Amino acid sequence: MKALILVGGFGTRLRPLTLSVPKPLVDFANKPMILHQIEALKAIGVTEVVLAINYQPEVMLNFLKDFEAKLEIKITCSQETEPLGTAGPLALARDKLIDKSGEPFFVLNSDVISEYPLREMIEFHKSHGGEASIMVTKVDEPSKYGVVVTEESTGKVERFVEKPKLFVGNKINAGIYLLNPSVLDRIQLRPTSIEKEVFPEIAAEGKLYAMVLPGFWMDIGQPRDYITGLRLYLDSLRKKASPKLAAGTHIIGNVLVDETAKIGEGCLIGPDVAIGPGCVVEPGVRLSRCTVMRGVRIKKHACISSSIIGWHSTVGQWARVENMTILGEDVHVCDEIYSNGGVVLPHKEIKSSILKPEIVM
Ligand code: GDD
Ligand code: MG
Repeated sequence: MKALILVGGFGTRLRPLTLSVPKPLVDFANKPMILHQIEALKAIGVTEVVLAINYQPEVMLNFLKDFEAKLEIKITCSQETEPLGTAGPLALARDKLIDKSGEPFFVLNSDVISEYPLREMIEFHKSHGGEASIMVTKVDEPSKYGVVVTEESTGKVERFVEKPKLFVGNKINAGIYLLNPSVLDRIQLRPTSIEKEVFPEIAAEGKLYAMVLPGFWMDIGQPRDYITGLRLYLDSLRKKASPKLAAGTHIIGNVLVDETAKIGEGCLIGPDVAIGPGCVVEPGVRLSRCTVMRGVRIKKHACISSSIIGWHSTVGQWARVENMTILGEDVHVCDEIYSNGGVVLPHKEIKSSILKPEIVM
């Protein structure tokens, strides 16, 4: 079975992290977002993943080369010369997606995180006999997504409305699709949107079906949602009694600590924290609801909450970093600094406090 991951887009909403790597390579729970997806695809027997990409394909491929061997899965790129939207890339990758078997293939948005119930989705797809299946989930704020109205008993999609201005319903497109090859006949090789052009057409013919996604789901393409996504992801590990979660008197709630990270004496960590490989957390540090990426050093008695600390940054002693502060790669926050929602571009040194949310260039 094959799969295509929609990787394009510049990930502007996740800057400054995406100034260093393409969005799918931004770490989430200690590994690049896209690896969560590739591993889930591999687990249900997908043998080839096509990355639909419109910039920096070398960066992606170089990075993924190791995993191709480790996971024994073929990873290729289909590169656009202009952004083709969310449907055009499928037309471009047509030859890679179709094989003799005529099997359906998966399509995934690259910025969604969930338990990926892909096996259940295959069963669902077989059971309804339509042309396409999409996963849907309920959210409180449907207007920023694609809203899907279904026939309750069968899941047949009656309407698909991308980013509706008026309330249509609260079930939204989760960005996980299983499509018959015939869907490719509906897509032209030009910039085009699967949500606005393709799904409404299939729905109008009564051949689009939606399955309600069991478990958690989050689009982590924006900092606030990324932090919420980490909480949901760690909750799901807890429900599965995952041995990956840290334990100890210095841990509160759900926390992931990479085995190569060092945690000093007298720290208090959690809930909802991920500490990446090679990090050094010095004594007396307090961390909650935050992600600390690979190679970061947090100095003595610093306090970080509701924030993302980008790769190889340092946070000085007695510093206080909070309220959606996002530090890009290699940022240095001096001792005793306060950051309230600072969004700091890579390679900066912060010598004076950031008192209200702002971008530091
Ligand atoms: N290759 C390629 N080329 N990929 C693209 C392009 C492009 O021109 N434009 C966007 N993508 C990729 C993005 O990287 C992302 O993985 C996916 O397509 C969806 O684009 P987003 O920009 O993240 O869209 P969204 O979050 O506003 O809305 C989409 O996702 C929601 C769920 O998170 C839609 O599919 C909504 O219907 C859905 O509810
Ligand atoms: Mg998105």
